[in-house]
Amino acid sequence: MTQPADINQDNLPPEERRAPRIDQRIKNLSNIFSLLGSDPDQNIHIIVQQACHLLEGSTAMYNRRDERNGSLECWAGCNLPAGYAAAGSSQGHVCNETVFKADQEPVAIEDLGQTPYAQSDPAIRRHGFKSYLGHPVVCKGKTVGSLCILDTRQRAFTDVDIYIISTLARSLALEEERKLAEKEQLRLTARLQQAQKMESIATLAGGIAHQFNNALAVILGNIELIQMDGLVDQRLLRFIEPINQAGQKMVHLTSQLLAYARGGKFQTQVVSSHRFVKEALSLVSHSLSSHVELKTDLDEATDPIEVDGTQIQMLLAAILANASEAIETKGSVTVSLRNATVTADERAKYQGLKPGRHVLLQIADTGKGMDERTRTRIFEPFFTTKFQGRGLGMAAVYGIVKKHGGFVYVDSELGRGAVVSIFLPGALVAREEAEKRIAAQTQRTGTALIVEDEHLVMEVNRAIVEKLGYRVLEAKSGHEALHIARTYKGPIDFALLDVILPDMGGNQIYPKLMELLPNLKVIVCSGFTLDGPAREILNAGAQAFLPKPFSVAVLSKSLDEIFKKP
Ligand SMILES: Nc1ncnc2c1ncn2[C@@H]1O[C@H](COP(=O)(O)OP(=O)(O)OP(=O)(O)O)[C@@H](O)[C@H]1O
Ligand SMILES: [Mg+2]
Repeated sequence: MTQPADINQDNLPPEERRAPRIDQRIKNLSNIFSLLGSDPDQNIHIIVQQACHLLEGSTAMYNRRDERNGSLECWAGCNLPAGYAAAGSSQGHVCNETVFKADQEPVAIEDLGQTPYAQSDPAIRRHGFKSYLGHPVVCKGKTVGSLCILDTRQRAFTDVDIYIISTLARSLALEEERKLAEKEQLRLTARLQQAQKMESIATLAGGIAHQFNNALAVILGNIELIQMDGLVDQRLLRFIEPINQAGQKMVHLTSQLLAYARGGKFQTQVVSSHRFVKEALSLVSHSLSSHVELKTDLDEATDPIEVDGTQIQMLLAAILANASEAIETKGSVTVSLRNATVTADERAKYQGLKPGRHVLLQIADTGKGMDERTRTRIFEPFFTTKFQGRGLGMAAVYGIVKKHGGFVYVDSELGRGAVVSIFLPGALVAREEAEKRIAAQTQRTGTALIVEDEHLVMEVNRAIVEKLGYRVLEAKSGHEALHIARTYKGPIDFALLDVILPDMGGNQIYPKLMELLPNLKVIVCSGFTLDGPAREILNAGAQAFLPKPFSVAVLSKSLDEIFKKP
């Protein structure tokens, strides 16, 4: 560490004695920059030590302001007297003068004994300090602390002293700025890692859900057929029903997993947000316990939204269930809806939210709230704090909102309830909502082509289609499908087309099929959501999309719709 050079001034004539010493101190001041390294905290200590040496103080310190309680804390010190209290109330402290003064100028006090600090500052009394030179440390326009030296001698501070302390205070400010930048960088990296983590869990969840769906299609489809056909006697049906119920539970679980993985947006429509939320609430409010009061504050003038109704209902049900579970005795849940334009301040809070006008759906509860750790992990699939929780509700909410191009944020503190805010993009045109339900089962005749590679899925799909009265042609690959289309003599009424096949994708098969059979109606089937190839086939002209697994009733409804279309 560079020390100020020890020049013997006694040999110089009196008028020349200060000049070379001033030069030397300024030279030493510029030398300190060569001592600074890459660690801002260490640099702060070096700067404080240099302040003590260059300004020849008894003690030097950097006192930092604690934003939470306004007190000062000695963050770095040089030659601190034994027993010096590093932190504590800043009441009556001489550094208050430097830190809280609006002009951000240095403060030089030749004789502390003449100031009220002699009484009010315990450190001055205890350690016998007689003079003080302090400079505020200003970072991005805000005083964050002060650099000061204290001396046990009375002394007048010169312009050079002030020049030195202001230069060192500026260097401290630069180190503080570097620390802020490093903190911001760490925060951004953590956010990126969190996003990457969510993405990779989503891929895993999507893969599992897909496999589950295929297996469930086989299990539930066969159960439905057994129940319909009366193949077994009553004694066996008693055992079959629990299998059915367990399977239905798994359908719900996989739909939540799928919702998390890709948002599970099957089909959207533009709806009046006010009417939609009102109706959805009436459908899902049964998930609230009887001791929970539901209040609503829905602005009728809220912009329309483009949503997948089933998905948003799933979202509301999951949030209401959580709110209800968080209310232990009596309490209320308030659902509000309005247009919201996000301000710059709010954007800092809602990191990642797009600027501009949104439809804001908020669900606030008066329950027990959650700690910060829970709040930050709430959207992770399988994260739960409940004994029998699965940890999928909020994961599904996250996926659904993301898929709708929206943003979700949870505000909560222990003991203070929770507010879930969902920002959705407003849709420009409002259209009428869903059509009426179509009768589930109608007996039909005709021929269907099923393109599906998985044997068991083919079996159950075949049975479902036959149940509706169709004759079935099976194709286990794209080539087989095209061969049938080329060679089958009679008319083919519709095709159930899987998206992923061993030899080619459904999106490649579709145009070739249409070339051969231009009037063919095609229903795209997939365990995945309406994305990628499935969306491509629909865009190319296919009539409908069915997520696997589907029941006789669902296929029947879909067929009714496509045969109604011109
Ligand atoms: N409104 C709320 N108030 C307090 N804590 C909540 C609230 N909503 C969610 N949480 C916390 O977040 C966790 C995750 O919620 P999530 O809905 O994903 O799973 P879960 O409710 O535990 O299980 P399930 O899959 O059955 O919904 C909960 O276990 C709970 O600790
Ligand atoms: Mg839940």
